Formats: sequence, C-alpha cells, structure tokens
Amino acid sequence: MKTHALTWSLLAMALGAAGCQREAAQAPAADTAATAPAAESAPAAAGPAADPALLTQAQALFKPIPDQAPALPGNPVTADKVALGKMLFFDGRLSASGVISCNSCHNLGMGGIDGVPTSIGHGFQKGPRNAPTVYNAVFNIAQFWDGRAEDLKAQAKGPVQAGVEMNNTPAAVEATLNSMPGYVKAFELAFPGEAKAVNFDNMAKAIEAFETTLITPGAPFDAFLKGDARALTADQQTGLKLFMEKGCASCHNGINLGGQAYFPFGVVRKPSDDVRPTGDVGRLTVTKSKADEYSFRAAPLRNVAATAPYFHSGKVWKLQDAVTIMGDAQLGATLSPDEAEKIHLFLHSLTAPIPDVRYPELPERSDTTPQPAG
Ligand code: HEC
Ligand code: HEC
Repeated sequence: MKTHALTWSLLAMALGAAGCQREAAQAPAADTAATAPAAESAPAAAGPAADPALLTQAQALFKPIPDQAPALPGNPVTADKVALGKMLFFDGRLSASGVISCNSCHNLGMGGIDGVPTSIGHGFQKGPRNAPTVYNAVFNIAQFWDGRAEDLKAQAKGPVQAGVEMNNTPAAVEATLNSMPGYVKAFELAFPGEAKAVNFDNMAKAIEAFETTLITPGAPFDAFLKGDARALTADQQTGLKLFMEKGCASCHNGINLGGQAYFPFGVVRKPSDDVRPTGDVGRLTVTKSKADEYSFRAAPLRNVAATAPYFHSGKVWKLQDAVTIMGDAQLGATLSPDEAEKIHLFLHSLTAPIPDVRYPELPERSDTTPQPAG
C-alpha cells in the first residue's frame, strides 16, 4: 500500500479548480502511531454531474482504494510491527554502505519513488529498471515490473541483498540489528513469544506490515467511484470515457488501474529501443516462456502524475507522452493530441494526498554494531 505527498498544487491541478480541498480518507488503523488523524471534509464539487452511465461503467471496471489494506496471509498487522517496519524502511544500516535505505529509492515524500530513470544504488551503480512506487503496492497481484516476487514480504528481501541496491547479506543484517538493543526490543514487541525474534524473515514481515499503511484512498477518482458524480472535472470525465472506450482499461483496471496482469509492451507496435531496451526481456526471465518476451506487468496508475519518469526503462518524462506511446504500442490507436491530453487529465484524478508519516527515531548503534562495509 502506498501514498504520496504530492500535495496541493498537483491536487488542485487534478481537481481543475482553485480552492478545492480534499483530505485523505481515514488513516489506516494499524498505523496509529505513524499516521496523523485524518480530517474529513466535504469535498467541493470539481465538475458538472457526470452521466450516470459513465459512473456505472467505471464502477464495473475500477474499485476505490479501501480505507484499510486487506489482511496479509501469515502476517498479522499490529501497531508494534508497523512501527518496527517503519524504522527498517528508513534505516540505511540495512545496506552494506550504511546509507542506502528503502526510502532512498522509494522516497515517501516524493510519490514513493526516486525520480530518476533507473535507480542508483550501492557504489553509485545504476540499476536496470525504474523504481515503481511503494504507495498502494499492497494491491498489486505480485511485485516488480516482471512480477517475480509473489508479495511484499518476498519483495523486501530482494533489494537488501541486490548488489546494485543495498548489497548486504541476511547474516550481516541480522548481526547489525542484534547489536542494537533498541532493535532487539522492537522485534520482541513486534513478534512476541518468538525465541529469536530478530531475523531476516521477520525484517521482511515488519516492512510488509508497514507497507500496508502506505495507501492513498483520497483521490478525486475514489470519490467519484464512491458515487460523487461531481468529483471529476468535465475534461477528466471525457478522459475517463476515452480511457475505457479506447481500451486502456482492458489492462489498467481494478483498485490500482493496473498491477494485476502481464502483457507484452508492444502488443500492436514495437516501442522504440530507447523506451523498451532490447536487453530487458521482462517476464520471460521469470516464466522462461518465449510468449512472455517483453511482457511486463500493466503498470499500476495510482498517483501516476507524481511518479515520472515512466515505463520500466524510465525513459519517458511527460505523462502525455507515456499516454501517446501506450495508445500506439498497445492499441494501435493514434490518439489525437486532444484525446491524449484528456486522458492525461483523467490520470491526474488518481492523485491523492499521502499518509502523514512521521520520521521514526532509529535505535542507537552499540560498540558491537558492525561498521559500514564501504
Ligand atoms: C537502489 C534503489 C532501491 C532500493 C534501495 C530499494 N528499492 Fe525497491 N525497487 C527499486 C527498483 C528499481 C524496483 C523495480 C525492480 C524491478 O522491477 O525489477 C523496486 C521495486 C520495489 C517494489 C515493487 C513495487 C511494484 O509495484 O512492483 C517494492 C514494494 C519495493 N521496491 C520496496 C522496497 C523496500 C521495502 C526496500 C527496502 C528494503 C527497497 N524497495 C529498496 C529500487 C530500490
Ligand atoms: C495490452 C495491455 C495494455 C493496454 C491496452 C494499455 N496499457 Fe498502459 N501499460 C501496459 C504495460 C504492460 C505497461 C508497462 C510497460 C513497461 O514499462 O514495460 C504499461 C504502462 C503504462 C504507463 C506507464 C506507467 C508508469 O508508471 O511507468 C502508463 C501511463 C499507461 N500504461 C497508460 C495507458 C493508457 C493511457 C492506455 C490507453 C491509451 C494504456 N496504458 C493501454 C499495458 C497496457
């Protein structure tokens, strides 16, 4: 689950009207310590009342973000676990260098991303892909552009060990965490009754629990789906109609408008080698099936206006351009500049205020805490 701090200027843009204010819907209950109480305010109308048929059609394809994430199989979410997961998310000491945290590449104040084409990790190495947002990730069917991690718990173990990301080992992470009494206590609170509460698996579980609080239920589009026929501007309503009629919604649907299934990038026309570099064959490496060559997960589009640059290559900076490329590559439909513009305005209605995450106090090192390994 995720959200972002995007804020009033973009939000006002999304609403298409000055002075409209919306507050995040209910803060997820599990993160009471991390999330400030959400204020409810009656949303001001952004546009004219939509045709009821448009609303019905949209409700059949998309779902609003719930106020709370679904339960995690085998990992009950408690306030103590969320608090620990938050500490771990912000702690650079999970990395070999001591400075690269999850938040380095998934900046919670900046859409849950790093804002560069492909991530920069250990030793300033450039990774091969763009960092997707952590906001609302809990709603994706599987994690990563190619879906190779089945859930957020499995996902969290990846970057810590990846040479181009945090470059660490489970044993070294456990030694680091065990050396700090503040962490030992936090793990014991989060995993009561476990003999060796500090371990790599529990690290991942705590991070996963924290990520269930990173959801953004307050977008104008959520208000619309919940029945507020005036929540979208007239242009956004037109954009939504186009998004459904042109076929975007056949891949981008559900809660996250994507994140549910895999498709070749270039169903109809091959994108340029710049946008879809030939070296990254996508889901083929996961399934070993030739049919999955250049297949990627349909990108989740929640808060997409805040997560440039776009595509797994991170090569496209303008959302309008990403829309046009999609129309061409996936639908063979050349969208007119006006159509692309309207769809792009609709995509802005997917932008919501982010949860209020207070920076955690991280445990002090002890004399036995391993020193950064370069
Ligand atoms: C060096 C930058 C970097 C760091 C550090 C990093 N990530 Fe990522 N993250 C990425 C990139 C790049 C991807 C996409 C990789 C891919 O799809 O192959 C990603 C993918 C993800 C995803 C999948 C989202 C989706 O929609 O599929 C989640 C969740 C995530 N990271 C959480 C974390 C957590 C938790 C940590 C800390 C333990 C972390 N990341 C550390 C760069 C980073
Ligand atoms: C056949 C399925 C399919 C259709 C139809 C489709 N998309 Fe996509 N979309 C994808 C896939 C797959 C990706 C990920 C591509 C990549 O980067 O590898 C994607 C990525 C995107 C992105 C980039 C998001 C990001 O965070 O990088 C946007 C924006 C987008 N689609 C919008 C649209 C729009 C607008 C339409 C209609 C004009 C559309 N899509 C039609 C499958 C589809």
